[in-house]
Amino acid sequence: MNIEVATQQMSEKGFLDITLDARLDLFAEIEKLKKEKNAIVLAHFYQEPDIQDVADYIGDSLGLAQKAQSTNADMIVFAGVHFMAETAKILNPTKKVLLPDLRAGCSLADSAPADLFKAFKEKHKDHLVISYINCTAEIKALSDIICTSSNAEKIIDSLPKDQPIIFAPDKNLGGYLNKKTGRNMLLWNGACMVHEIFSLEKITKLKIRHPKAQLIAHPECEEAVLQIADYIGSTTQLLKYAVASDVQEFIVATETGILHQIQKDAPQKTFIPAPPNNNCACNDCPYMKLNTLEKLYLCMKYELPEILMEENLRLAAKKPMDRMLEISRAAGLIG
Ligand code: 13P
Ligand code: SF4
Repeated sequence: MNIEVATQQMSEKGFLDITLDARLDLFAEIEKLKKEKNAIVLAHFYQEPDIQDVADYIGDSLGLAQKAQSTNADMIVFAGVHFMAETAKILNPTKKVLLPDLRAGCSLADSAPADLFKAFKEKHKDHLVISYINCTAEIKALSDIICTSSNAEKIIDSLPKDQPIIFAPDKNLGGYLNKKTGRNMLLWNGACMVHEIFSLEKITKLKIRHPKAQLIAHPECEEAVLQIADYIGSTTQLLKYAVASDVQEFIVATETGILHQIQKDAPQKTFIPAPPNNNCACNDCPYMKLNTLEKLYLCMKYELPEILMEENLRLAAKKPMDRMLEISRAAGLIG
């Protein structure tokens, strides 16, 4: 397929839909393309196992942002969702940033449309805005500091105790942080569809069936689940905790993609995905799972879809990102 046809197809579908020869060794081909194009593949823990295995770096949102900023590769191939690839472009604009499927969005980012958020912010002019990184570049540009689930407490603690704060867009994470920090942040009413769907009843039953298991949960989960969790943390923190702990069995309340890496790092332990409130046994993010090894290969080959951003927007979104990275560095959370 020539580049004009590929571009046309990509703009219609959001990804390259090209049938590949089934005999192609995609792992080897991706490695070849990485060398040829001086490309780095960054993957979030929620990506499918094959993508995690081919990635140069697997991490949570904070680790990925830092890696995207510090890489000297010419091409950043982001195996994650749109706001993550956008973050890479904000932090490292001279690199070509690719996302295998442009439709890989995020229900949490979608829950904060920029025009509504701007109007909300204008009603609370004395408040500073801390936004969770799971938001669009437009929301970042309307924020004072960005945070991730790894550094949110440190970011909040960096502000004076009497400073009024708006926290957006995740009300579950915001509620959890209000409790942890003793603040009364004004919360935007957004949520992640994946973390909101866990069934308290099914988790309680699982805990009875596995009395020695600990429940580890991502702070995007609802309060009722967080209340019965033994440990709460970002994806990287959950993984580190489970690997280092003496406990042998865990119920994991986050997206199931994490199980691949966690099981690799602690093969002798048992990890049970926390069940959602539907007929499914596990909890996949439909956006994260739009990326496939085939799409990853095609996007590297044709260098499409590419993330582009208007420079004024990028600069406005970069300011609160830089503040986050500075505070995280000072707190020793990143190198
Ligand atoms: P972390 O990567 O910060 O753990 O956040 C999880 C998530 O929902 C990413 O979309
Ligand atoms: Fe967004 Fe939730 Fe999917 Fe993360 S898991 S990308 S927050 S919808």
